[in-house]
Amino acid sequence: MPDPVRILCLGGSTRPGSSSEQALRVSATAARRLGAEIEVIAGRDLILPIYDTETRERPALGTRLVKAVRRTDGVIIASPGYHGSMSGMIKNALDYLEDLRNDDRPYLDGIPVGLIAVAYGWQATASTLSGLRTTVHALRGWPTPLGAAVNASTPIFGVEGNCVDDSARFQLETVAEQVTSFAQQRAHTRSEMYLGVG
Ligand SMILES: Cc1cc2nc3c(=O)[nH]c(=O)nc-3n(C[C@H](O)[C@H](O)[C@H](O)COP(=O)(O)O)c2cc1C
Repeated sequence: MPDPVRILCLGGSTRPGSSSEQALRVSATAARRLGAEIEVIAGRDLILPIYDTETRERPALGTRLVKAVRRTDGVIIASPGYHGSMSGMIKNALDYLEDLRNDDRPYLDGIPVGLIAVAYGWQATASTLSGLRTTVHALRGWPTPLGAAVNASTPIFGVEGNCVDDSARFQLETVAEQVTSFAQQRAHTRSEMYLGVG
């Protein structure tokens, strides 16, 4: 059996019961079901000081985030729509990936990234998703074909955090499936190259 691929799930807001964190966890659960090893960094664990270019000192949570990205095979990111784009907390967390610029695999180079935008209306879900895609492209990641746009102005999650909206669940599970299968294919190709197969 090959090692499971690792998928890092980032996102949510500082709010207890955050709908974007619940959306993230629905995707995380789907990716785990598909055989991925999941790490979740969500909510208040993403409250980081503004990324500071003038020091190499980083808070422990910033170092944890950068290390987790360095070893992952895929990423899923969920942000609430704040004033038409991703929240400052999520953008600032992604700015910490600048610390990966000199790695052999810089930033999110070549890895699949599933994106989830949750807002209180369709307009902000679309613009937030678009902003997330732009940032992931800048970080050299490969956004999956489907991004999840979740309009939380109607009930989406049950008390257990389960997704009670069929359309939202389909999107969240499809994003997980696309990230996981792409990561698995890349891992398979890498191992064949290593073994000199083909
Ligand atoms: C500061 C702030 C700005 C927001 N801006 C928008 C917005 O522009 N459009 C929108 O539809 N919802 C907006 N919302 C609502 C959130 O996108 C929505 O409540 C989302 O579900 C919050 O995510 P959370 O449940 O993970 O905290 C805003 C909420 C906050 C707190």
